[in-house]
Amino acid sequence: MTQSSSAKRSTAALVLAAGEGTRMKSATPKVLHQVAGRSLIGHVLATLTEVKADPIVVVVGPNRDDVAAAISPHRAVVQRERLGTGHAVLQARSALKDFNGDILVVYGDTPLVSADTYSRMRAARKKASGPAVVVLGFEPADPAAYGRLIVGADGLERIVEYKDATPQERAVRLCNSGIMLVDAAVLWRLLPKVKANNAKGEYYLTDLVALARKDGLTCAVVHGEAEELMGVNSRGELAAAEAVVQNRLRRAAMEQGATLRDPSTVYFSMDTRLGKDVEVGPFTVFGPGVTVADGAVIKGFCHFEGAHIETGAIVGPYSRLRPGAKIGADAHVGNFVEVKNATLEKGAKANHLAYVGDARVGAAANVGAGTITANYDGFSKNHTDIGAGASIGSNSVLVAPVKIGDGAMTGAGAVVRRDVPADALAVNAGRQETLAGFAAKYRAKKVAEKKAAKGRKT
Ligand code: UD1
Ligand code: MG
Repeated sequence: MTQSSSAKRSTAALVLAAGEGTRMKSATPKVLHQVAGRSLIGHVLATLTEVKADPIVVVVGPNRDDVAAAISPHRAVVQRERLGTGHAVLQARSALKDFNGDILVVYGDTPLVSADTYSRMRAARKKASGPAVVVLGFEPADPAAYGRLIVGADGLERIVEYKDATPQERAVRLCNSGIMLVDAAVLWRLLPKVKANNAKGEYYLTDLVALARKDGLTCAVVHGEAEELMGVNSRGELAAAEAVVQNRLRRAAMEQGATLRDPSTVYFSMDTRLGKDVEVGPFTVFGPGVTVADGAVIKGFCHFEGAHIETGAIVGPYSRLRPGAKIGADAHVGNFVEVKNATLEKGAKANHLAYVGDARVGAAANVGAGTITANYDGFSKNHTDIGAGASIGSNSVLVAPVKIGDGAMTGAGAVVRRDVPADALAVNAGRQETLAGFAAKYRAKKVAEKKAAKGRKT
């Protein structure tokens, strides 16, 4: 059996990410910019992992420890000088010297390619005719400066870069996405033959096709979707990629059984997990690390990150859940309530204008409007523990560390600095004094003052 017809042939991936990304005008390397809470290169690596590409090697620019750290545990190789895509691939030669399957070359700034597309490329390589090189082509609305795929009777003949193309070649609409699947042996045998004798003076990976043909090998094109092959080179393209991914995530959420009242106003992260029959109202942002269990209701205008919402809970409108927020089954979190690193146990409620941070709110406890857990003393964060069934009066300040026992109460406006035992009431807002008739006298005096002032003016 020849290698190319073996069904078990393994695939390694090589991600080119040594580009400078100057059009982003950013201190952050281009491939670390995010779409749906995940870096561009993170998207690429996730899909390559999904299709079981192994190993995955990333070609990074010099002094790019940040990119190398972001791609860990995958291996980074450094391209010291930016001499072209062919040169970039060559830098990974020693990293892949023991690998003898197929090598999938992809770009770190093209985050939307689907696993299915990679699978179709692999399927093309496995055909009995066994093309040595499979190139992913597409027909963008505007072919602009993409390389053109020149296809003849025997398949793909060569790739010509826009700058080097004749007017007839520029009229070809089938473009090179840059993504390529190559037999490793062919790649390492032919790549050193690539010369930089072109308009850009670069070593073009694309020249591999003509070299393979000269060697008597065949090359094929697999057609991809223009939307998937969108590259990110500017902030505008970053926003366009975000829009594509958000639409995919909205569709997936609904397909998996969540109701989105107005999908176009809900924003997800790649790792958002919604259960069945979850309802999401309009204008809600799911930052990274959010899970919502079956049947929870999100009433809209909410902002979440690093939070878990249990089944039957009702959250929002206008709630903010920050990292470590755990909203228990049937618990309620209402408008202008912020929860951070805190657990609301089953049936607990914090319905209006509250800050619950570094705390536990026991089952069925009620946190009154305006309650604040004063968790920070200027130096460290302290814990507030509210027992099951406790009732925290409106505008209470719970000065942590502090413990409110099961079934205990605090009076409105209480500043609670000491623990409150179970079933006790803590009040310290001061005794009320009532002055009969004071308000009426006060008003009369003020009205008279105003009249006198007006008389002086006229
Ligand atoms: C490349 C293709 C072109 C294709 C287009 C699709 C070549 C010669 N041309 O052109 O046919 O239509 O992509 O977008 O391959 N990179 C490195 N090191 C380098 C040069 C590039 O890592 O020395 C990386 C870049 O970071 C980028 C990718 O390779 O991720 C493509 O490089 P770029 O310069 O953008 O190539 P294009 O001119 O767009
Ligand atoms: Mg490019």
